[in-house]
Amino acid sequence: MEKEWFRNWFNSDQYLEVYQHRDHQDAKKLLDLVFRNVSLKKNSLILDAACGAGRHLIDLTAKGYNAFGFDLSMSLLKKGKTDAEEKSIRLNLFRADLRHVALRQKFDLVLNLFTSFGYFHTDYENFSFAQTAFGFLNEGGIYVFDYLNEKYLLKNLIPESKREIEGKTVIERRKISESRVVKEIIISNHGPENRFVESVQLYSKKKIVDEFEKIGFKLTSDFGDYNGTGFDEENSKRLILFFMK
Ligand SMILES: C[S@@+](CC[C@H](N)C(=O)[O-])C[C@H]1O[C@@H](n2cnc3c(N)ncnc32)[C@H](O)[C@@H]1O
Repeated sequence: MEKEWFRNWFNSDQYLEVYQHRDHQDAKKLLDLVFRNVSLKKNSLILDAACGAGRHLIDLTAKGYNAFGFDLSMSLLKKGKTDAEEKSIRLNLFRADLRHVALRQKFDLVLNLFTSFGYFHTDYENFSFAQTAFGFLNEGGIYVFDYLNEKYLLKNLIPESKREIEGKTVIERRKISESRVVKEIIISNHGPENRFVESVQLYSKKKIVDEFEKIGFKLTSDFGDYNGTGFDEENSKRLILFFMK
């Protein structure tokens, strides 16, 4: 398996098609949960790490926040810029790798949303952004971490599913391999197939909280979905953690 699978997949035209349900409405729901739990002044600085096509950033910028976003995928950044321009919104976007991001500003809120975590093959690399972010958060600043719930995923893994999206057949095959959830995505449209891989390291809530606490963060809340239901390791689909510096 290609180790840096994320370069190809998130830069492909198909990523946004396969995840089209992860739209602006879905983004708004999670942001509503964030703002029910974090109070920020309008001039606060927000950073969306691995912001993709900017679906959260567009909403934050439209609300008047001083929001910045970065991502590795040039094609998603371009899409975000175009989508925002259509709404007469100018986004603060830049290209950076989660493992090597350097910033001079101090932020009040850092977001890492929709499983933009666990892509690398060492704990050091996977937690390196949390370590960096601790450095550029203000005292009392918040880090919101939205990831899968390992226990729920292991119990409910669907080995194969098939969908039709805009005339294309999308087959998704899922397996657990070396403590990672590996998804093969096969897209066909009468012609040759396109194949992509997603591979995410599985971490328990305990391991994640331990690693963030080692960095210096304090856990302030945990949720199991975007509605704000409390996290339940057996039944929650998501693991949404709020940490404070
Ligand atoms: C599942 S998507 C989520 C995107 C966005 N947060 C959202 O909610 O729509 C994961 C994102 O992580 C980005 N990404 C993957 N590897 C990265 C890396 N090494 N550095 C920065 N961004 C990365 C991808 O390009 C993609 O936009």
